[in-house]
Amino acid sequence: MKLFVYHTPEAAPADQQLPDCAVVIDVLRATTTIATALNAGAEAVQTFADVDQLFEASEAWPEAKRLRAGERGGKQVEGFELGNSPLNCTPDVVADKRLFLTTTNGTRALKRVEKAETVLTAAQINVQSVIDYLKAKQPETVWFVGSGWQGDYSLEDTVCAGAIAAALWVENSDPATLGNDEVLGAIALYQQWQDDLVGLLKLASHGQRLLGLNKEKDIIYCAESNTFDVLPIQRSPGVLVKYNGDA
Ligand code: MLT
Repeated sequence: MKLFVYHTPEAAPADQQLPDCAVVIDVLRATTTIATALNAGAEAVQTFADVDQLFEASEAWPEAKRLRAGERGGKQVEGFELGNSPLNCTPDVVADKRLFLTTTNGTRALKRVEKAETVLTAAQINVQSVIDYLKAKQPETVWFVGSGWQGDYSLEDTVCAGAIAAALWVENSDPATLGNDEVLGAIALYQQWQDDLVGLLKLASHGQRLLGLNKEKDIIYCAESNTFDVLPIQRSPGVLVKYNGDA
């Protein structure tokens, strides 16, 4: 298995073949929300980079079975039932519904790799499920794609990539596993901060933005490791479902 870390969707090479497995990461907060919604019984999470496209697709879905969710600049989009807080994705709200989700960066990162053979999403709350999947399937090439913030690097996405890469790297420490230098950088970041992820997320620029929006509880929730065992996997372009072990 050869691992590559790309801090942002823009950094992921456009002129190369997509990897066997792409792992999209937006710890604050899109991929945390996706994992939470699927764990709470949402039928699927369908992601959109564009608000108008989301409206068009969701209109075609039965009203009782859909929820429109998302943010711009961290704030709920007008006319949507939900913002992008994972804390709102409780079973009584999302069970059996499809979440139509758009966010500033996370859904753009998903779009960037949607044609890869396998697309997973990772957040700190479900890192172990991603590690278990990669160990079991042994894809030849894996890209960890951070969502960043409008083209800039985000600490929280890279530390999550580092948590997964560290678990895979300790298995053999084979230099051939390191597809680019960013992998070791991500592992080092994780090793330094693994006991204070809340502290790191609060220092991160998007953490600061969310603190300014009184979202400290979201940060604390997003910083927890392995809250549950759920693996979001892409079933068709942009549509994520809970992995049930059959692929
Ligand atoms: C994003 O996609 O940029 C984030 O999920 C923003 C947020 O915290 O809601």
